[in-house]
Amino acid sequence: MTTDFYPVENRILSLLYHSKVSMTTYELSKKLKLSFPTTKKYIQTLIDKGAVIEDKLAKNNKATYKLNFKLLKDVKSNAIKNKSLPQDKSTQKIIATKKNSVGKGEILRTADLFAGVGGIRLAFEREGFKTVFANDFDRYCKIIYDANFPEPKMTLGDINDIDLKSIPSFEILLGGFPCQPFSIAGYRKGFKDAKGRGNLFFRIAEILDEKKPKAFLLENVKNLRNHDGGRTFEIISKTLHDLGYVFKVAILNSANYGNMPQNRERIFIVGFRNKKAYDAFEFPKELALTTSFKDFLETEPVDDKYYYNEKPLYERIVNDVNNENTVYQWRRGYVRANKKGLVPTLTANMGAGGHNVAIIKNHKGIRKFTPRECYSLQGFPKSFKLPAMADSQLYHQAGNSVTVPVLQRIAKEMKKALS
Ligand SMILES: C[S@@+](CC[C@H](N)C(=O)[O-])C[C@H]1O[C@@H](n2cnc3c(N)ncnc32)[C@H](O)[C@@H]1O
Repeated sequence: MTTDFYPVENRILSLLYHSKVSMTTYELSKKLKLSFPTTKKYIQTLIDKGAVIEDKLAKNNKATYKLNFKLLKDVKSNAIKNKSLPQDKSTQKIIATKKNSVGKGEILRTADLFAGVGGIRLAFEREGFKTVFANDFDRYCKIIYDANFPEPKMTLGDINDIDLKSIPSFEILLGGFPCQPFSIAGYRKGFKDAKGRGNLFFRIAEILDEKKPKAFLLENVKNLRNHDGGRTFEIISKTLHDLGYVFKVAILNSANYGNMPQNRERIFIVGFRNKKAYDAFEFPKELALTTSFKDFLETEPVDDKYYYNEKPLYERIVNDVNNENTVYQWRRGYVRANKKGLVPTLTANMGAGGHNVAIIKNHKGIRKFTPRECYSLQGFPKSFKLPAMADSQLYHQAGNSVTVPVLQRIAKEMKKALS
């Protein structure tokens, strides 16, 4: 499922970008296929009312788009005076970006925020991107991350406390950020004022504002889209647009987009400052699933501690967990079989027992996946080091991470779009 976020103000910017000439309000309304002529008087009325235009674009009558107030102001002050629409600041920014566009073979630098164990980094480095900064505040993540990515090491600390000046320049911001609720009231004060609230999306916005990377990739749970009745996502969209980005959104399932047998749906937001790169970017296409969870099992016998045999739960599940080709999931009080043979979404709490644990059966008994198998099911290679630490931590970080092949396919498309 893919959606374009391309509101009317960005269409105006794009028209300006392509034409690089000013235009009359009549031309503007014609080019935008507005259902009414954008007269000086009409613009004035809207500004006086402090209203936003809700305009149905010709192509998509169902969608309504908001023309932002700031642009209207620019239209007012310039169009009314000169009968023409000059480039506003954001347009100039887009044009500046074009001159700077990435040449073929140029290395794109990334900042790996909310880096976890580096699943996103691994995917982007496989596609030739270069990581120049990594941050997370979890010390277990740092142990795993640094064991696998010697340079640059993870900067350990709360992202809200990191001095933005200490972050080196980069072209792509990467962030699988935690989804937190934020209030509309907080938002109205602007994302800078919301900093004190420690909201992580607004911290990302601040970093985008300060560093102005060419592009970003944000990853989150599927539900981000519907969180708080859609308001959270609306604020995120508006903020990203206000920062000068156009972006596309997709919900991709690892089973359909990464050829990995895990039912893991995640939302991806990929944005660009440059309209051409935005146009060129496409999310990867669906792939046939040719792997089975069995391809990712350890080849050596696994420790008895992963088996349920002789544990209290065993008697409750033994009759239901009866097929070696199926993955089961312990729900509160019952076992659910995944009919498609997929592994249920690996979660951060699976190490602590809980109701999401995936269960399989073999000739020796009934067991859960080992930490190594969880990393393999997320697409990490066998060579990925898992330092000695409590299993619960290893499970936690695996569940928090991403399915690497899905991210690698997105990285590949981003690179194409930026070259
Ligand atoms: C969903 S995980 C991202 C995992 C990562 N994409 C990966 O591939 O492993 C979110 C990460 O954000 C980190 N985090 C949460 N709040 C943070 C903060 N205020 N500052 C820095 N890191 C934070 C958590 O420790 C966690 O590792």
